[in-house]
Amino acid sequence: MMNRKPFTIAALLVTMIALVLGVALTAGFTRANTLGQAANAAAPNVEYTLITGGDTGKLVFVGVGGEIDGVVNPTLTANPGDVVQITLINGDGMLHDLVIDELNAATSQFTEMDKEEVIVFTADQAGEFVYYCSVPGHRQAGMWGMLVVGQATSAAATGANIVRSPLDVPPPVGDRGPELVEVEIVAEEVVGQLADGTTMTYFTFNGTVPGPMLRVRVEDTVELTFRNETSSQFPHSIDLHAVTGPGGGAVYTNLRPGEETVFTFKALSPGLYVYHCATPSVAHHIANGMYGLILVEPEGGLEPVDREFYVMQGEIYTEEDYGTPGYVHFSHEKMLDEQPEYFVFNGAANALTLDENMMHAQVGETVRIYFGVGGPNFISSFHVIGEIFDRVYDQASLTSPPLTDVQTTLVAPGGATVVEFALDVPGRYILVDHALSRMERGLAGFLMVEGEPQPEIINGTLTEGSGH
Ligand code: CU
Ligand code: CU
Repeated sequence: MMNRKPFTIAALLVTMIALVLGVALTAGFTRANTLGQAANAAAPNVEYTLITGGDTGKLVFVGVGGEIDGVVNPTLTANPGDVVQITLINGDGMLHDLVIDELNAATSQFTEMDKEEVIVFTADQAGEFVYYCSVPGHRQAGMWGMLVVGQATSAAATGANIVRSPLDVPPPVGDRGPELVEVEIVAEEVVGQLADGTTMTYFTFNGTVPGPMLRVRVEDTVELTFRNETSSQFPHSIDLHAVTGPGGGAVYTNLRPGEETVFTFKALSPGLYVYHCATPSVAHHIANGMYGLILVEPEGGLEPVDREFYVMQGEIYTEEDYGTPGYVHFSHEKMLDEQPEYFVFNGAANALTLDENMMHAQVGETVRIYFGVGGPNFISSFHVIGEIFDRVYDQASLTSPPLTDVQTTLVAPGGATVVEFALDVPGRYILVDHALSRMERGLAGFLMVEGEPQPEIINGTLTEGSGH
């Protein structure tokens, strides 16, 4: 039978006080879980069943039955005034609950496999409410979805795709002499997709995070055309760490919206270098996405490999908590306190775990990752789960001998590294910062490796829920 919390006088008093004070309750007040007292315990208008985990092996809710059957974290809908019934099934034998704060609706926390609990509440007002698991870490890990009461408005906000594909690497320079290389970079401010259902205003180079990877040869002269879009709200500039001279170019490029300029520089030293906007507040511009990498190849070029990838890490500071849907706002205060809500590879939460942005390779191939940290503030302990870096060009020095057989390598903000490894075993390898709390704030990328199993290297029986 239904599990109901007793109606309390306290709850009623709180409501009355709130109403008397004219408090604009942002969420629909509800007689959540109070139907046990009501003589007219109405039959639910809408009923949903959710199972924890389902067969996904992940920390999510999965819909059971009806239109939401099999859907991960389905959006539930109701009309204002509806009596909503949600049945929660424990599908993974782990401790979970389901909570909707604004509607005062919550199951208890329970761990027993296949146990069910039913909550019934009234959705008195239109709005968009997050349902989530309140066990620490579970919401961040993915256990949340939306209950939309009435017309959907800001929930599930959509913005431009600002994710730079990790495959977007220019061709090797090869064995050529120095040249004049022309590059065009445009500062663009765009409302982009930060996470599923969440958007924010990004500052970008050429519309993506990171900006385009530039690839030149040592001694090349680069003629860089820099423009700030007319639609911009802020001035922007570019400082390339590959440049020798004041501001790394920033002194020539601080442009107001609509302006354009050209400057040239000679790439004196090989290496993989960060570039970024250097317009105050610099940390703000970087946090919002204004960074990229420029590779200066040594004479003769780098050794060929089978696959090359381009990945950059950054933090994002929003007023709203991690996972809040809708349009979210930059928080200067959190930035100064160095308390990001999101950590991202290539601009958006979990972007490189999505089908369209995953990296792919075959057993027997060699991969090279050009990895940089835009930051602005956090050092990355860069690691690929399940792999050992055969070679690390520590601090992106291409003129020193590489380190060999490295598990995790430090990359400073405004710094980079080049790692190389051969693929011996098929499976899913996860790019992380081994400060792993950050994985629960959006920081992960998948490298999918196909090929024949290699039981002489690794063998066993797969277990569920390992997250790999
Ligand atoms: Cu949980
Ligand atoms: Cu800027």
